[in-house]
Amino acid sequence: MQAGFVLLPGDGIGPEITAQARRILEVVADRFGHQFEISEHLIGGCAIDSCGDPLPTETVAACKQSTAVLLGAVGGPKWDDPRAKTRPEAGLLRIRRELGLFANLRPTKTWDELVDASPLKREIVQGTDILFVRELTGGIYFGESGRKEHESGEEAWNVMNYSTGEIERVIRLAAEAAQGRRGRLTMVDKANVLEVSRLWREVSERVVKEEFPDLQYNVVLVDAMAMHLISRPRDFDVVVTANLFGDILTDEASMLPGSLGLLPSASIGSSGPGLFEPIHGSAPDIAGRGIANPLATILAAAMMLRYSAGLAEEADAIEQAVSDVLSRGHRTADIAGGGESIGTEAMGSLVLEQLQS
Ligand code: NAD
Ligand code: IPM
Ligand code: MN
Repeated sequence: MQAGFVLLPGDGIGPEITAQARRILEVVADRFGHQFEISEHLIGGCAIDSCGDPLPTETVAACKQSTAVLLGAVGGPKWDDPRAKTRPEAGLLRIRRELGLFANLRPTKTWDELVDASPLKREIVQGTDILFVRELTGGIYFGESGRKEHESGEEAWNVMNYSTGEIERVIRLAAEAAQGRRGRLTMVDKANVLEVSRLWREVSERVVKEEFPDLQYNVVLVDAMAMHLISRPRDFDVVVTANLFGDILTDEASMLPGSLGLLPSASIGSSGPGLFEPIHGSAPDIAGRGIANPLATILAAAMMLRYSAGLAEEADAIEQAVSDVLSRGHRTADIAGGGESIGTEAMGSLVLEQLQS
């Protein structure tokens, strides 16, 4: 098949990890007889440096015309001044919104061969297989915000709002995903305090009762969920929640498989190109050293092939290659537990060779 992918390397380790994903895509095209056209564009801090805008219009245009978008990460200390007039992260939020990507799927699965990379006990994490569905284009991330003078200095605010329609569509998507998995759906909120969460609870219960009565459905408060996630992660199948809660819970959940560097994500809407990225950031503390784990990005490329191009066999081949390389004991520093480790490019090459074998 022919597909046009946009690659947005971004900042920090972004260019290092997307370079490996690019090599993998090229080999997949070769092995399976496809034509992938891959074009790179600016987003984030590097785009601010080059044209003053974290999301240049030409990047948006290229993304809209693409089959799908693969992103590295954005942000870093260089652009962190709280008084700066724009930020790298604003580019990421805008592209999610521009493409209508209201659902962010974050699969969190432990690998048997990596169980000891987790800071948690083997008997707790082994067999964990959770699909987080994070609402991505609403809530406090996109509500009204501002600052004004205050007798003590200043006052600042961010408004969290959700409409019935925004909640319904992400609940439906999560419920459908649960039907295709183990049939369990957990909705996480803070309904004991927030009005917004009480709307989530009402809408969610109605949608599930009317449209998905076969699901095993429960609700959990977000503070308790933070605890359950690390005490009994195997009890969860699909977890659906609002934008901010999903952001926080999934970084926490990355410790189940053992590293942020392992977790991919897919952001999808009702139509048009999706955006695929690792869940981690630009890791400024290790950027430029060639030691970042490229596997989250490589696995995001696999998700991209599966969800946006219908290439399930190709996606399976990438995932299998990653799993084989891990089984053979190869580790980047983040999952080596202080033992011997290899760099970003070497890990990319091993996956590549495995794919070609
Ligand atoms: P981070 O995810 O970049 O890093 C957290 C920790 O995890 C660091 O110690 C880092 O070295 C490690 N880590 C992350 N990815 C890794 C990988 N692939 N291999 C090995 N180790 C890895 O979070 P942060 O430090 O809080 O944020 C840094 C910057 O990234 C900020 O500007 C933030 O806004 C941005 N950010 C961007 C995205 C994105 O582009 N999607 C996501 C999260 C954070
Ligand atoms: C993520 C990141 C982003 C978010 C930031 C960089 C805007 O943390 O993708 O998880 O909060 O959504
Ligand atoms: Mn995050």
